Amino acid sequence: MSKKLRLGVLVSGRGTNLQAIIDSINEGKLSAEIAIVISDNPNAMALERARKANIPTAYVKPGKKSEFEREIINILEENNVDLIVLAGFMRILSPNFVNHFPLRIINIHPSLLPSFPGLNAQKQALEYGVKITGCTVHFVNEVVDGGPIILQEAVPVYDDDTVESLSARILEKEHKILVEAIRLFGENRLRVSGRRVFIDKEGFDKCL
Ligand code: GRF
Repeated sequence: MSKKLRLGVLVSGRGTNLQAIIDSINEGKLSAEIAIVISDNPNAMALERARKANIPTAYVKPGKKSEFEREIINILEENNVDLIVLAGFMRILSPNFVNHFPLRIINIHPSLLPSFPGLNAQKQALEYGVKITGCTVHFVNEVVDGGPIILQEAVPVYDDDTVESLSARILEKEHKILVEAIRLFGENRLRVSGRRVFIDKEGFDKCL
């Protein structure tokens, strides 16, 4: 049996995406282990969720960017992390950090990229007037919200939507595709070619 995928999850806030990962692991739906949860915010509810699940946590105080990132890199390496998951981590990582872990960092973003990158994606979508929006899991590269797309899920925008109602509809899908992307990564089924990410079919190898 291959070794369990070790995750390092970076968080800044509420942590519902982290919770979705924890729940999927606990329910046996995702074969992975969260080695460490790291936050730049000591009061993040996500840290509380991790502690409740007996997952090791680390708070890294933001300061000089290079030192802040160096500390995070050290923690991730000490914990032998295979995949880094940005789950509501509200900082932009430098090219130096990103290039340290090529194709080993993924992010969940609440829009159908490349539409509405950056902050307040749900508000941007609502104000723009799109009829469909959604969420995206992508590999992280040097461009903010610009890396190769792994999975996307669409949701409708209704006339009476508020930022809150739309965000809630998207969030449900975020939890689903983030866990699914981690699963596919862990099963070594993601093949990246330029900007495109191909997903190998289940059991493909075994059929040969
Ligand atoms: C999510 O909407 C995610 O897409 C964005 O930040 C939010 C984090 O939510 N990057 P949570 O902390 O996982 O509840």
